[in-house]
Amino acid sequence: MDWPRLDPLDEDYLLKAYRSRRWGTRSPFVEEFEREFARYHGAKHAVAVTGGTAGLMLAYLAAGVKPGDKVAVPAYTFIATASAAVVWRAVPLFVDVDPQTLNMDPSDLDRVVEKHEDVKLVVPVHFAGIPAEMDEILKIARVHDASVVEDAAQAHGSAYRGRRVGAIGDAGVFSFQLSKLMAAGEGGIVLTNRYDLYEAVWSLHHVGRRFEGEWYEHVRIGWNFRMTEFQAAVLLSQLKRLDNVISTLERNWRIVVEGLERVDGVEVFRPPKHVDWNFYFTYVKLPKAVEYGLGLKLKFVKMVRERGVNILEGYVKPLYKQPALRDPYWSLPSEFYGKLYLKNTEEACASVAWLPHYELLTEDEARLEKIVGAVKEAAREVLS
Ligand SMILES: Cc1ncc(COP(=O)(O)O)c(C=O)c1O
Repeated sequence: MDWPRLDPLDEDYLLKAYRSRRWGTRSPFVEEFEREFARYHGAKHAVAVTGGTAGLMLAYLAAGVKPGDKVAVPAYTFIATASAAVVWRAVPLFVDVDPQTLNMDPSDLDRVVEKHEDVKLVVPVHFAGIPAEMDEILKIARVHDASVVEDAAQAHGSAYRGRRVGAIGDAGVFSFQLSKLMAAGEGGIVLTNRYDLYEAVWSLHHVGRRFEGEWYEHVRIGWNFRMTEFQAAVLLSQLKRLDNVISTLERNWRIVVEGLERVDGVEVFRPPKHVDWNFYFTYVKLPKAVEYGLGLKLKFVKMVRERGVNILEGYVKPLYKQPALRDPYWSLPSEFYGKLYLKNTEEACASVAWLPHYELLTEDEARLEKIVGAVKEAAREVLS
């Protein structure tokens, strides 16, 4: 697998960071990367942190999440969206997703916040890089006096109605873990337009220090969640080529999707016109698996992989069914979770596989044909 892509500019910056001996604790590449990533996404402020999970934890805390507060998250997401709330002893409430985008369904969010009233925070996830329906979600959150933190872990460069994601809500969090479109091994960043949130997240990630404060003066309880200079050096270089990466993905995605649309037994999805996305995952749905169950999807994925294409099975169970939420230590309402059945999430878990961006990032058209061919053969075999 040709991921992550290597580049001479990465090497230049890494060597510069290495020779500077300023390897961490708020260093020059870190500060430049924060400025540039914020500017690129149209945000006023940024704080680079150790990872996406850490960024979510700090953003939730800065947004005022307290023990017992309710936090609305989609049921179809990575566990960090919810566990970053649980760590503050808040209670995740699960919202069903739109069957097309697999993003938080605003009408189900409305149902959940009406039913529970005291929702403090809403966390839409821009899943697969496809922006969530921010206008409707913000409207619902504002009526209920809830903050909105965007989980943009997968959405570097994506835009909703012409605005890049990440600071459309109160804050937004990105991940730079190895599989992401910008990858430093690990890493994350919090964006916001609100100075109060910026100040709080900055302080929280820097052991409770304050801007211009004394080194051993700690104005709040905080921790060390700082990004290192090496991560920021690679990320600054990657940011400069992000537009090129996305346009290669767009071109190749069109070819692959046109091919997949002609494959019997498989459905693909084209995002709505009002979003620009980064092609992080292409959904490949096997509708028959809704009827026949997860086993069919897993068999299909195995067969595609046997043909040399790195398709992923994706989530196989809704978050509310994860055993972690039943751990008595966290005192979560596991009985309530046990009774949940969110139809679109359940169906997506049974039937949707993900084609990752690094499979589409190629200059070789034959490779794209191979992807379509592998999906076609695997679908024919499992459905026969
Ligand atoms: C939707 C989502 N949220 C949060 C995270 C957590 O990010 P990290 O792995 O950098 O902690 C990830 C990815 O890993 C993710 O996909």
